[in-house]
Amino acid sequence: MSADLNRIRHEVEHRRTFAIISHPDAGKTTLTEKLLLFSGAIQQAGTVKGKKTGKFATSDWMDIEKQRGISVASSVMQFEYKDHTVNLLDTPGHQDFSEDTYRVLTAVDSGLMVIDAAKGVETQTIKLLDVCRLRHTPIVTFMNKCDREVRDSLDLLDEVESVLKINCAPITWPIGMGRSFKGVYHLLRDEVFLFEAGGEKINLDVEIIKGLDNPRLDELFADEAAQLRMDIELVKGASHEFDLKEFLAGRLTPVFFGSAINNFGVREILDALIDWAPAPASRDATVREVVPTEEKFSGFIFKIQANMDPKHRDRIAFLRVCSGQFERGMKMKHLRLNRDMAANSVVTFMSHDREIIEEAFAGDIIGIPNHGNIQIGDTFSEGEQLAFTGIPFFAPELFRVARIKNPLKIKQLQKGLQQLGEEGAVQVFKPLNGGDMVLGAVGVLQFEVVAHRLMSEYGVDCVFESPSTNIARWVSCENKVKLAEFEKSQVNNLAEDAAGNLTYLANHRVNLDIMRERHPDIVFHETREHA
Ligand code: G4P
Repeated sequence: MSADLNRIRHEVEHRRTFAIISHPDAGKTTLTEKLLLFSGAIQQAGTVKGKKTGKFATSDWMDIEKQRGISVASSVMQFEYKDHTVNLLDTPGHQDFSEDTYRVLTAVDSGLMVIDAAKGVETQTIKLLDVCRLRHTPIVTFMNKCDREVRDSLDLLDEVESVLKINCAPITWPIGMGRSFKGVYHLLRDEVFLFEAGGEKINLDVEIIKGLDNPRLDELFADEAAQLRMDIELVKGASHEFDLKEFLAGRLTPVFFGSAINNFGVREILDALIDWAPAPASRDATVREVVPTEEKFSGFIFKIQANMDPKHRDRIAFLRVCSGQFERGMKMKHLRLNRDMAANSVVTFMSHDREIIEEAFAGDIIGIPNHGNIQIGDTFSEGEQLAFTGIPFFAPELFRVARIKNPLKIKQLQKGLQQLGEEGAVQVFKPLNGGDMVLGAVGVLQFEVVAHRLMSEYGVDCVFESPSTNIARWVSCENKVKLAEFEKSQVNNLAEDAAGNLTYLANHRVNLDIMRERHPDIVFHETREHA
């Protein structure tokens, strides 16, 4: 094996790429900061986000939009921990941005699920876990806020198992809760970690008591020690044991209890991610499977973000490296456009900032600045023709037409919509008959973001009206003649999306049903993958 391949293999084995998934307010932002704190990437909590993104009044969100530099720098973060390079991806918590979230989840190898232990499993977590389950993504679970009055721990595990359909293997177990929260017992290490309220900095001298039968426990908690021993017996009997294979298959989740705000239980999660979560895996592409330790570089775009830095009016395309070694200045081929690109100004994301990147390996997320020629789902390689599969787009459920206040701005409106469509902020359909562009979204907030961005980035003041469209389906047909016939007969109901895919727009579901009956060779798709 060549020295380079050895290097690539070493780097891949030492990489972990995961996303935090949770319902808003469970503590994702707090935990993200604490993970950075424990890794040494930041010295003090409270420095990553000036303002939290957990609240979703539109006005708050717009404020955050304005401060993109802050919010986005933290949507992809890389840090070092115990000789490993860790890539942490943020997922928007609000369901209106779920499309974005689904695609972020295609770029990770594992997930960290944060649950508010006072509330248990909440709706957004259920949806996100559904997506993870599709890809068998291994999940580590953190039961947060144990310093509050929370729900019974066995009940919580039961709920996770029954609602999220994943077995639980408790790794730590809480001793008390709320004011009487004393710490956790680590079932695998047979150690008790004593709770101490922490804050912005890490307290390194947390007391650890070795062994559940240690008399020090009785000394410290005369009242609770006996109960704890009984509880642990019960827990061991009633719950699943940790099994690495089951975890890697996405069927079992190790569960940790703690309190993010107090830095308690955070180190254990990081250790679990390093010790158990998978290194970057092989990925499906058209033609063949791509192995991360291959010599040649390849990757795909899963997210595009504009105006990350108001100083540079560019867009950053986030690429997940799938194989080989990325090196600054190398030639990468943008396969959809069949165009070579010199990768000189590709960036990586640290806790505060972006930096020009020198090299990257499978699992890393790199940012490619561009002016609008890269789309979500695009594959880059060193020349080999392949396309990574499994990056989804969902048929929108909400529709709007943009009406501009100043008709002279029509060109800017079209340009803005085209670009926002390519970016995936909203879906944009251009009717074949030349009518108004139709916008489609999964969540209504997406329209507000688009209106705001049209104004601030393209100088277009517009209002949205509801069109008659209520259904959109991508269309395909193996028989080219039949497709052409369909196109001709339905020209008034057909449009192209931002990537040029043919789409059928209907007023009602009945129209769609009739179309299906009349044109049995045409396939109407509810989701599409990047072509
Ligand atoms: P999110 O990103 O998932 O939306 O959650 P975020 O971290 O913003 O946390 C939501 C709220 O929960 C915040 O309180 C945060 O301080 C609190 N929190 C997070 N972890 C813990 C914990 O371990 N224990 C307790 N008791 N609270 C925790 P907030 O009052 O909504 O906001 P803030 O004013 O404190 O920032």
